[in-house]
Amino acid sequence: MQSNEMIRNTSYWEVRDLETSTEALDEAAQILASGGTVAFPTETVYGLGADARSTSAVEQIFAAKGRPSDNPLIVHIADIADLDMLVFPYNSTARQLMDRFWPGPLTIVLPVRPGVISPRVTAGLSTVGVRMPAHDVALALIARAGCPVAAPSANRSGRPSPTLAAHVREDLAGRIDGIVDGGPTGVGVESTVVELIGDRVNVLRPGGVTVEALREVAAEVTIDPALTRTSDIAPSDAIAASSEQITDASRHAGDSALAQGTAEHAAPADDAGHTPRSPGMKYAHYAPRGTMSIVKGDAPGQVSAWIQAELDAASQRGERSGVLAFDEHIAAYRADVVVSCGSLHALEHAAQRLYAALREFDEQGVTFILAEACPEDGIGLAVMNRLVKAAGHRIIQL
Ligand code: TXA
Ligand code: MG
Repeated sequence: MQSNEMIRNTSYWEVRDLETSTEALDEAAQILASGGTVAFPTETVYGLGADARSTSAVEQIFAAKGRPSDNPLIVHIADIADLDMLVFPYNSTARQLMDRFWPGPLTIVLPVRPGVISPRVTAGLSTVGVRMPAHDVALALIARAGCPVAAPSANRSGRPSPTLAAHVREDLAGRIDGIVDGGPTGVGVESTVVELIGDRVNVLRPGGVTVEALREVAAEVTIDPALTRTSDIAPSDAIAASSEQITDASRHAGDSALAQGTAEHAAPADDAGHTPRSPGMKYAHYAPRGTMSIVKGDAPGQVSAWIQAELDAASQRGERSGVLAFDEHIAAYRADVVVSCGSLHALEHAAQRLYAALREFDEQGVTFILAEACPEDGIGLAVMNRLVKAAGHRIIQL
């Protein structure tokens, strides 16, 4: 789609507290109710909403984002009473998850009742992902709109998800009908997506609700095999390739992990030929424009020294260099752009800052980025999942 086909007047409302903003919320809700698209804050990231029942409304989401149509959308509700018309009766494990985590950053994939939601939302699947966001502006907007609201993250497809209304503007102004600015989001990474296989809770996307927290509620929690498949690459291959275009890199590196790096191209199926259960998992997301790699190693001093040497080499080649690192090591780095993720001991800050950091590299014109890895405990699992995707699966194991 040509971008000049999409010039629209994008309304903008600042909503900081509900009491003084009823008019703004009514206007935004009216747009949703009449089939338009409105971006709004949630506790995770900004979403781009449309009436989930209306195919023409939902098609505007895909057009505005440039999103592949086989990637289904999450449906947002404001009241648990609105769930039963969308999905078939569910088991007690599903109910316990809702009791414990809703409103909150958990999306539950459930069998969808036919004919209620547009098939464009489910991408033709027999299931739908549903969540109730823990954000008073989101809840008020959805309740006023009076419809289930389909909402992916409010970014152009492949770009980092928006954690500020300014990010939404950057990507979608002129392409959507409105933006409700509710300030910075809280969690910073998207919701955890789970499916139920009987009473087993299978995590399709790690996110704001940690696996550890799920285990407090459900007896059996698994992580979908598609998430744990790794494809580390040797340091020499990675750097040789990462200084060039990704497409060149994949040619040079044969069928190595680098071949997965192109945004919006499906990652290859694994050896066993598994296809991802959550269609979104196969797309490279969140990517900054520069070439990014993640560096892992057991000795922090060795990692820092290696990263610094590569940053220096990149500068010598005439690249603009960037590093994403934790407070514990940040003083070790000299680069054109040095961004902190906060402390390794408070990874919720890394989650909050990650997407803004990736956008910062773009703003500063950084072409070569190295990122430190973090432990995959708690919210660290979601942080690493997004970092790996942003890096197009380029992980350098020292
Ligand atoms: O935090 C969030 O979840 C944000 C905010 C706006 O709520 N939304 C969000 O939506 O991240 P989106 O569209 O960017 O990601 C939806 C993810 C995708 O990975 C998609 O494949 C998966 O959920 N998904 C949606 N419906 C599914 C289904 N029926 N079965 C399996 N996976 C599904
Ligand atoms: Mg998204």
